[in-house]
Amino acid sequence: MSKVTVHDKTFGVFIKREEILRRVAEVAARINEDYKVLNPLFLCILNGSFIFAADLFRCITIDAEISFIKLASYKGTSSSGNVVTAIGMEEDLHGRHVVIVEDIIDTGKTLHSFLPEIEHRHPASVKIATFLTKPSALKHDIKADYTCFEIENKFVVGYGLDYDKLGRNLPDLYILDEG
Ligand code: XMP
Ligand code: MG
Repeated sequence: MSKVTVHDKTFGVFIKREEILRRVAEVAARINEDYKVLNPLFLCILNGSFIFAADLFRCITIDAEISFIKLASYKGTSSSGNVVTAIGMEEDLHGRHVVIVEDIIDTGKTLHSFLPEIEHRHPASVKIATFLTKPSALKHDIKADYTCFEIENKFVVGYGLDYDKLGRNLPDLYILDEG
């Protein structure tokens, strides 16, 4: 399928499943190397990261653990704006090597608001693995340590990412048609 319609919009195929899997395996190989004896904890942010997390984790060959959380945003009392908190975080992060797994870093706002909550739990280290980044959309000082693809500032769906809740099941990544 080179074109799909999700709700009212048409998307064209952008990165094929085979290329995605090749790249995910490369990123996993780097993580295997970097975390050899550290038993990292992969902390995956739902919903968008679930497909990426599954493919990435299957390529991890060292001892490693995985857990899934949802983020909820509420208005903080300080001037820092919204606070993002984790739902379903049962792990004790103290002294752990945490790898946050995200589907996409767009403006960086989500992780910028959420990282303090992680730091607060005193992990030994925190790194970010993301399937996608949109460098030209970035507005916060967030840098991913492992990125599969840097893309232009256009809307994408598939491979876990949704357009208004649909499209997550598309095996390839699709980009919004503007023409
Ligand atoms: P921020 O700006 O906080 O955004 O880094 C991260 C969240 O925004 C959503 N997002 C997208 N979702 N296609 C999507 O399906 C996109 O192109 C896109 N850009 C941003 C996504 O939920 C992500 O976690
Ligand atoms: Mg998301």
